[in-house]
Amino acid sequence: MVASGKDSREEVIQAWYMDDSDEDQRLPHHKEPKEFVSLDRLTELGVLSWRLDADNHETDPELKKIREERGYSYEDVCEVCPEKLPNYEEKIKSFFEEHLHTDEEIRYCVAGSGYFDVRDHNDAWIRVWVKKGGMIILPAGMYHRFTLDEGNYIKALRFFVGEPVWTPYNRPHDHLPARKEYIETFVNKDATNHAVDATA
Ligand code: LAC
Ligand code: NI
Repeated sequence: MVASGKDSREEVIQAWYMDDSDEDQRLPHHKEPKEFVSLDRLTELGVLSWRLDADNHETDPELKKIREERGYSYEDVCEVCPEKLPNYEEKIKSFFEEHLHTDEEIRYCVAGSGYFDVRDHNDAWIRVWVKKGGMIILPAGMYHRFTLDEGNYIKALRFFVGEPVWTPYNRPHDHLPARKEYIETFVNKDATNHAVDATA
């Protein structure tokens, strides 16, 4: 990434605080006025992100490097649309139930787009819009949910270390070791860092 100038990830990944309305989950749900969240702030919450070359994902050396460094041995494609996803209606509902996993959730959007909603440390929802070329990793133990946007379509590559486990643990599942580790690594450390900032 270049030190000066706009972070090119922001062309394919944007994040903002959500409003409280129960309107259609596929709408943007911006607050009024809009309240964006930086990708650096997402990193502090444990969410990693990249902008990659989606048209050349099969040969992309940058993706290869990420896969090797993080040990992702498994890869598949998940297309979310009625024709391609078995039990579409049921899946759409379960994706939007707040849940966590005991492993990372790694998604690389190669077509379409979608919203990954994550909780900040005060339990407020941050909506993370991932479009073609955006790749994100949600850490194990972070509560989140997914919905399509108004475009109604996403094609995402999924990665995993070893045999994939997609099990969602719907909230509350606070006793799981993965949840405790998330709190320890990201929530407590973040609170300490901000306390230090405040006294600096
Ligand atoms: C998943 C997304 C929908 O668990 O959170 O696949
Ligand atoms: Ni999930």
